[in-house]
Amino acid sequence: MSNKLSTIYICSKCDAQTPKWAGRCGECGSWGTLTAETVETKDNAKKTPRVAPIKALDLGQLDNHKLERLPTGINEIDRVLGGGIVPGSLVLLGGEPGIGKSTLVAQIAGALNKRNKVVYVSGEESPGQIRSRLERLKIDLDSISFLPETGAEKIIASIEEIRPALAIIDSIQTVYSLEAEGELGGINQIKATAVKFLELAKKKNIAVILIGHITKDGSLAGPKSLEHIVDTVIYLETETTHDFRILRASKNRFGSTNELGILEMTGDGFREVKNPGSIFIEEGTDNLSGSCLSCIIEGTRPFLIEVQALVTKTAFGYPVRKASGFDLNRLQILCAVLQKRAKINLANQDVILNVVGGLRIADPALDLAVSMAIISSLSNQVFDRQTIALGEVGLGGEVRNVSRLEIRLAEAIKLGCKRALVPAGGVSNAKMKLETIKNVNDLVRFLTK
Ligand code: TYD
Ligand code: MG
Repeated sequence: MSNKLSTIYICSKCDAQTPKWAGRCGECGSWGTLTAETVETKDNAKKTPRVAPIKALDLGQLDNHKLERLPTGINEIDRVLGGGIVPGSLVLLGGEPGIGKSTLVAQIAGALNKRNKVVYVSGEESPGQIRSRLERLKIDLDSISFLPETGAEKIIASIEEIRPALAIIDSIQTVYSLEAEGELGGINQIKATAVKFLELAKKKNIAVILIGHITKDGSLAGPKSLEHIVDTVIYLETETTHDFRILRASKNRFGSTNELGILEMTGDGFREVKNPGSIFIEEGTDNLSGSCLSCIIEGTRPFLIEVQALVTKTAFGYPVRKASGFDLNRLQILCAVLQKRAKINLANQDVILNVVGGLRIADPALDLAVSMAIISSLSNQVFDRQTIALGEVGLGGEVRNVSRLEIRLAEAIKLGCKRALVPAGGVSNAKMKLETIKNVNDLVRFLTK
């Protein structure tokens, strides 16, 4: 079979490929995102050669079937990974530049290197910079092997020789392979090198963490296009109210993807946030209309959360619906339900919704709080800050029960809430006043004049 080189155009946003350049991506509709990549195409015209079949494995006879994880020693990281790093797994750690990815992996290296060998590869920073960071984090320098190298083949040969338990590649955008076409940091190179690290991880049972830079809107496709290659994808994000960092898994072959890790950046690295329950609440908005508290469950943990709505008269044209941290379609549905079932006139009102703290929430229990925030803002009446609203809203305006109601109420009580608006048939909890809401048209009577 002979291979030939040809140029294709790849969208940096959705990864779509086309043979011709265009100003706009035909798949996702983004403008100016198509970039040229040279790829090898296989000439498949010739007959496929005959291959010998392989012997099937008897899974019951495997002896190392138990996942012995490497705990990082930092609870919030272990929680997100599902209990530690799995040997032989390939992990992608993504985040904006400057958010703390190198700091986080340095701390993981520091926690692991007491019992396991760790290799730290950096094509980004000089050995001096790495050293001063490790010193600042009080990490024992002797047990970390540092490779200032960007050639994938050389890096892999060195790692195979050192045989560490964990190898850290900071970052995948700075590594190139001699065997792949395309520019450094381009999709071709990133994919080719990631596949090489995948082979290394699986063949030698070495866990590998790849660091990938992504931009704020996640539009830099490089690391995103690796999501299906790696075992686990974790993102480090900012939380806006207190400037904490949120670590979340968007894919995990070895655990759940809903756990959040909450970390605080200090003078000597990341530290766990001891009481993260109330970090998604804004202080000093007590007397403002349009705000309502609720409680979401992310993974196994409850978090108190604040929803803010701003409802203003539409200046011209169609009414605007905007949501940050909440699904826009869901907001549109809730507006329609309020209009029809609770006779709340939103037909010529713009509705802007914000979930405080920068989380993106898909928990349906938030529906009632969103509805309440909208009604509160429209009527300019304040909703009590010591009351939380919990419930999913159906198309008939009916309020449905939510999962794990007791855990949510217990968290609200712990953080000083006195009352809760809950669906019918939930729980009877003596430590808090419960108001049963059957339908969204019940909500208006809970606003204070
Ligand atoms: P860094 O880990 O280099 O970010 P990334 O690798 O994601 O680009 O560090 C980000 C910021 O954190 C940097 O501005 C310095 C700061 N920082 C601290 O505040 N405390 C520390 O202990 C360390 C090591 C860094
Ligand atoms: Mg870095």
